Amino acid sequence: MTQYPEEFIERLHLVWGTGFLSPGGGEEVARIVRGLDLKDARVLDVGCGTAGPAITLAREFGARMTCIDVEEPVVARARQLVAAQGLEDRIDIRLTAPGPLPFEADSFDVVFSKDAILHIPDKPAFFADVLRVLRPGGAFAASDWLAGPDAAANPAFRRYQELGHLDFAMASAAETEAAMRAAGFRDVTTTNRAGWYADMAAREVDAIAGPLREDIIRIAGEQVLARWLETRRALRDAVRTQGLCPTHLRATGPG
Ligand SMILES: C[S@@+](CC[C@H](N)C(=O)[O-])C[C@H]1O[C@@H](n2cnc3c(N)ncnc32)[C@H](O)[C@@H]1O
Repeated sequence: MTQYPEEFIERLHLVWGTGFLSPGGGEEVARIVRGLDLKDARVLDVGCGTAGPAITLAREFGARMTCIDVEEPVVARARQLVAAQGLEDRIDIRLTAPGPLPFEADSFDVVFSKDAILHIPDKPAFFADVLRVLRPGGAFAASDWLAGPDAAANPAFRRYQELGHLDFAMASAAETEAAMRAAGFRDVTTTNRAGWYADMAAREVDAIAGPLREDIIRIAGEQVLARWLETRRALRDAVRTQGLCPTHLRATGPG
């Protein structure tokens, strides 16, 4: 059963821009990889969505992208958007099964991911696998949605999880850092982006209730709109109260 059917992709594109199933667009992608030289680098994007991040990394940074995602409608849309940009020679989109990364050891210079690791329950296994596919001294640069330290007691965070239809396995920053270090990563850092996203999430609620309302009703109907607004209000409040924290993750593999 897909978690990202076509109509949900359309709604997310309305709010976050065509090609993006997460907030911030190309500017946020650029902040995630800040300081890395990606010219002709072999970059793996885990949970590539509809390829907005990959298109940014290929076009603006010259990366050679291999992108994986587990959802058929998402992959189909990603391929369309990549073809529309004429970037098929720089971006390879693959439909994969959840689980171990289907690549040989030492296949990539950089592993990138934007707001997708929250769908992967076994973080220690995931980070060990990322390190395996990275070349020695390669970089891991990602964003993920993490649970704040008091998330379990945060009513908005709990409400968001109840209302949303997505399978989330959100870890805390401490758990994520521990999993990266246990895998063998060095220079591990996490940077909380809740302050940045809080304002944007509030504006998104206003847009869904206002200028985007009719388009969303056309795509998904009134009932979906009503429930989505409730979900998005809970998300806004969870981010504002640091129950849910979009967070940048950086680390380097041993050289
Ligand atoms: C919130 S979306 C983000 C997509 C994209 N990175 C972006 O920022 O627009 C999360 C994506 O992760 C994908 N996903 C879920 N579980 C996955 C897994 N085990 N491996 C790879 N991708 C996964 C989903 O299909 C979805 O496209």
